[in-house]
Amino acid sequence: MINKYDSNHESSDREAKTFCEFFAGIGLVRAGLEPSGWRCVYANDVDSKKKELYENRFGCDDRFHLGDVWNTSEVLDRIVDRPFLATASFPCVDLSPAGHRRGFEGEHSSTFFGFVKILAALGERRPKLVLLENVTGFLTSKNGADFKAAIRSLSELGYAIDAFTLDAKYFVPQSRPRVFVVGIDRDLEAPGAIRANATDWFGEGFDRAIDRADASIRPRRILPLLRSIDPPPELIAFHIPKPIATIPPLVDLIDLDLDQKWWDEAQVQKHYLMMNDKHCAIVDRMIAAGESFVGTIFRRKRGGSTRAEVRFDGLAGCLRTPRGGSARQIVIAIDRGVLRMRWMSPREYARLQGVGDYPLVENEVQNLFGFGDAVCTPVIRHIDRYILTPVFDHRSNSIEPGLAGGESDQRPEDPIILA
Ligand SMILES: C[S@@+](CC[C@H](N)C(=O)[O-])C[C@H]1O[C@@H](n2cnc3c(N)ncnc32)[C@H](O)[C@@H]1O
Repeated sequence: MINKYDSNHESSDREAKTFCEFFAGIGLVRAGLEPSGWRCVYANDVDSKKKELYENRFGCDDRFHLGDVWNTSEVLDRIVDRPFLATASFPCVDLSPAGHRRGFEGEHSSTFFGFVKILAALGERRPKLVLLENVTGFLTSKNGADFKAAIRSLSELGYAIDAFTLDAKYFVPQSRPRVFVVGIDRDLEAPGAIRANATDWFGEGFDRAIDRADASIRPRRILPLLRSIDPPPELIAFHIPKPIATIPPLVDLIDLDLDQKWWDEAQVQKHYLMMNDKHCAIVDRMIAAGESFVGTIFRRKRGGSTRAEVRFDGLAGCLRTPRGGSARQIVIAIDRGVLRMRWMSPREYARLQGVGDYPLVENEVQNLFGFGDAVCTPVIRHIDRYILTPVFDHRSNSIEPGLAGGESDQRPEDPIILA
């Protein structure tokens, strides 16, 4: 069958560099994959407001399927050919500390199994690569049982597994640690990666490689978790170098002109009084010294009262959806003795997700919901550069084994778009 979105469709002996984007949201996974030639052949999400943003950015065609991932037959009808890759940044609500920690018993995060059901139903057309993304609470939910159940389900479908973490702060001034799981068809070659059968004698070499890797990318708690899965999944470790990116300072991503919706004095004072003594003292000192400062504030409930917590480390806090208002970030700026504050704008959210030129819609809250839930695009580009594209290229032996993803291949990351 010819893929209708592939104008230069490749002959049947060559696979096309295509992917399906599950839990597509506003398409920031797609935004991270397209620059290296991946073509989205199917996108799925249940949220019509996200669809509007998605189609505003990527164009309106029938690629975006607005529907529940549990509607297996509806989804299968729309996936043609065999996509090479399927991505799934499934809902984090039940896995994150900000939610109720229901884990896979919750109706949101358990939609992951709707995705697994589709992979199973695809049979011979199952993608050879799978990429999952979620919050780090995925590793700890139900004491690791949820993560293990997810890995077991991919392993049963014939995937070898790698799992690691990457933080958006290596690319943009935003703290956003996330867990990624790569599933690769057991029969596919994995350039630059080390394989280990969990019950294999030679597993020791694999463990050492993990031990030597940067702990921020390969936290030490992941391997024991993977090794405790019964039956043992086939494990694999790709070489994922720590990003070398020129990270723009937060001040470059924040609009400081007076046309912004800065708060009136009463609102600023209210939030100043919500800060703890230490933060007030730092702010007072900077104002008195005539220093300049740009940072962010999150409002948090602490001991029954709401606190305004300032970050002084040059990073924005993790963007979230603005449910209840308290999850929205606040910009704090000190300029020549003047203290200013306002809500962070959707354009600034877009920049902090690495896509400053993303077209916005009129409804501010709709934009904030879209970006607050999304992935940070340069992180996806990094995973693509060191794992996804090398695996795709290597399947036709078009590049030398071991080079892709190796140390010598590391180049600085592309600069993020600030527009
Ligand atoms: C973490 S967000 C994904 C964000 C996306 N990767 C992006 O960059 O915008 C999870 C998405 O899952 C979607 N979702 C939740 N339940 C779903 C379901 N039953 N079927 C399909 N999508 C669902 C939500 O609407 C949300 O957009």
